[in-house]
Amino acid sequence: MRPRNIIFLLLALGVRSIAQITTQTSSDHDLSTSPNSLGLSSPPQASQTLPDAISSSTFASPSETTAPEQISSGTLPSPSDPTSTGSQTTSPKQTSTDTLPSSSDPASTTQTSTSDASTPTSPEPESGQWDVETNPDGSEEVFFAPSDSNPLMIAYYADWTNPTIPDFLDWIDFAFAIPTKSFSLAWDDPHSAPLQLAHLVSAAHAVGTKVKLSIGGWTGSRYFSPAVSSPQNRQTFVKSIVDTYYQYNLDGIEIDWEYPGREGQDGNLVDHKDSQNFLAFLQLLRSCLPRTAKLTAAVAPQTFADEHGQPMKDCSGFAKVLDWILIMNYDTFDGSPDPGPNAPLFDGCKNSTEPDSNAVGAFKIFKNAGFREKQMVLGIPAYGYAFRRHPSPAFVKTDDGGDRGSVTFRSLIQQNALQRADDGSFQSSGGFSRQWDECSSTPFLHSSDGGQVISYDDPESVRKKARFAQAMGMRGVNLFELSGDTEDWALLKAMAGGLYSS
Ligand SMILES: *[C@@H]1O[C@H](CO)[C@@H](O)[C@H](O)[C@H]1NC(C)=O
Repeated sequence: MRPRNIIFLLLALGVRSIAQITTQTSSDHDLSTSPNSLGLSSPPQASQTLPDAISSSTFASPSETTAPEQISSGTLPSPSDPTSTGSQTTSPKQTSTDTLPSSSDPASTTQTSTSDASTPTSPEPESGQWDVETNPDGSEEVFFAPSDSNPLMIAYYADWTNPTIPDFLDWIDFAFAIPTKSFSLAWDDPHSAPLQLAHLVSAAHAVGTKVKLSIGGWTGSRYFSPAVSSPQNRQTFVKSIVDTYYQYNLDGIEIDWEYPGREGQDGNLVDHKDSQNFLAFLQLLRSCLPRTAKLTAAVAPQTFADEHGQPMKDCSGFAKVLDWILIMNYDTFDGSPDPGPNAPLFDGCKNSTEPDSNAVGAFKIFKNAGFREKQMVLGIPAYGYAFRRHPSPAFVKTDDGGDRGSVTFRSLIQQNALQRADDGSFQSSGGFSRQWDECSSTPFLHSSDGGQVISYDDPESVRKKARFAQAMGMRGVNLFELSGDTEDWALLKAMAGGLYSS
């Protein structure tokens, strides 16, 4: 990939400033074959029922006034308007708990009054919000008013890890709550997740960071299809979500259904009407959440399946009800027998067997399907993918202790495959050598005898992706997930550097 090719690509997308996006051209290594499975890295599976309600009054209220500290690193450019990015001082609207529906009986079909809830209550929606417009004939239409504010820095908190929380993020997404077969919510880990989420919300709110609950995930999408399949089921499911929203003093909900109309993980229930039911569910959920709540969806780099199993060409109905989509641009070669990039920025060599499974391709797909730039957030992995061909002296263990699968950036450093150099970059060590794959704009490591290949992301590739998101006018970037980054947030700071560059 030569820089001029990148310029061509970005011009085709209507970008004004491309001068700062360049790549290194150092690699001749073949990193491409057929990407197939897409999805989040697998959390441990669990399907317990939601534990007893924790009274929201036991949690600290979000601070109204505490301004977050700036990141201490001198390398991070300050956003021009600190009040609209990481330094939000506006606390989420407090909601009086006595108006809330009871959450003591999740299976109850008692309905929140959806017709009341859908009536706008706030006279002046802030920009970047969902709103309702009244047509001349008196009918109402939901629309989304994009925000002009600075792009968002977001990261996932995975409940199977125990990450520390940086104080400079706009949003944290807590992963995962899981739909049950009775259409309520369970946790990945019913013993620790409820307290983790409670602590996360108070810690995050204290530094001006908002929290969304992510529902589903790769191993948690089995029962989405029946949960949205009828008006009655949707009512039950929405009530459980709204109860949880209030119970934990959340700021938003992310639906991570992998995937409507497609099976995803083996055993997931699937129906040809999934996507239209999904939309009806999102509309109901939107109308039952307060207007300040953000409603988002995590998506693969392709649109939802239509009734015939084909990617939908028109997603404008979804674009009207979702604040933004999170494009899960990772796991591209998970499941492929041959090494390939985990999270390509683009099909830089124009010979990928999945030319759209990358950040640029996904951006174009969703733009053409009806999403605005400001409704797209680019997902960026804090992990790589190890492929092992044969035993070799230099060897990195994956996160689950195996020799093939995902491995966090932090673990690559802990296992001495990467070392921080004096200039802050991460260089290979321990019998590995690092090369740059110009076809995907990501680095990879290979052991000297070729026995193991690890495609991954580091501050260099992450910065380019965030720069791309910024140049396209996207809503922001989202790291999966916090525990994969270094203790001093090398990846998040590189993301911020790319996002706030001019
Ligand atoms: C794609 O092109 C690059 C650069 O020319 C090359 O190194 C790589 O082997 C090609 N991959 C495939 C699958 O053809």
